[in-house]
Amino acid sequence: MEFFLDTANLDQIREINDLGLLDGVTTNPTLMSREGGDWREQASLICDLVEGPVSLEVIGTTHEEMIKEAKDLVSFGPNVVVKIPMIPEGLMALKELTERGIKTNVTLVFSPTQALLAAKLGATYVSPFVGRLDGLSQSGMEGVEQMRTIFDNYGYSTKILVASVRHPLHVLDSGLIGADVVTLPYATIMQLMKHPLTDSGLAAFLADWEAFQQGK
Ligand code: G3P
Repeated sequence: MEFFLDTANLDQIREINDLGLLDGVTTNPTLMSREGGDWREQASLICDLVEGPVSLEVIGTTHEEMIKEAKDLVSFGPNVVVKIPMIPEGLMALKELTERGIKTNVTLVFSPTQALLAAKLGATYVSPFVGRLDGLSQSGMEGVEQMRTIFDNYGYSTKILVASVRHPLHVLDSGLIGADVVTLPYATIMQLMKHPLTDSGLAAFLADWEAFQQGK
């Protein structure tokens, strides 16, 4: 399973990269605006820092605007993936970008049938937002499971990129379902490493060793 970091923050990207866990980065207009400053500079720094794919999202909502922006976004680096919203105009743009060989990530996906449309038009990634669905008492992961079945039934190569992740259970379920990628907030990736029994176990080992050394 690939791990992407869902952030536009350079310190977080560097830290997870240093841990060897960074396969890619996803951003969106909200995450980019949180960093402040010049977004072009920020996007360029992210693309240089990250070896893997970096999703940069378009702001336009018409086919023409999205294509124009996509052409600009890919100039940030060879690893850019253009993030397109799951709206009819977005699908038109997706078709054209697929034909041009530009990598795409269809975002704001909330149903398996939306994912099916994106896969049919050759999206590189499709991003189901599981946490936001859970927030409405609908199972986000159930939708991901159905997407996996549909994609396997038809041999679609579109990767399922589980987004809007809120906690480690989303990662566990993604792994059990066979989702290709999870994009994680920094806090969730740190949570994955932690277990209280690891900490208390290590503390006990070190204390026992210390006592043994003292007793020599
Ligand atoms: O990058 C898209 C997605 O992960 C956003 O998540 O937390 O805003 O629902 P969230």
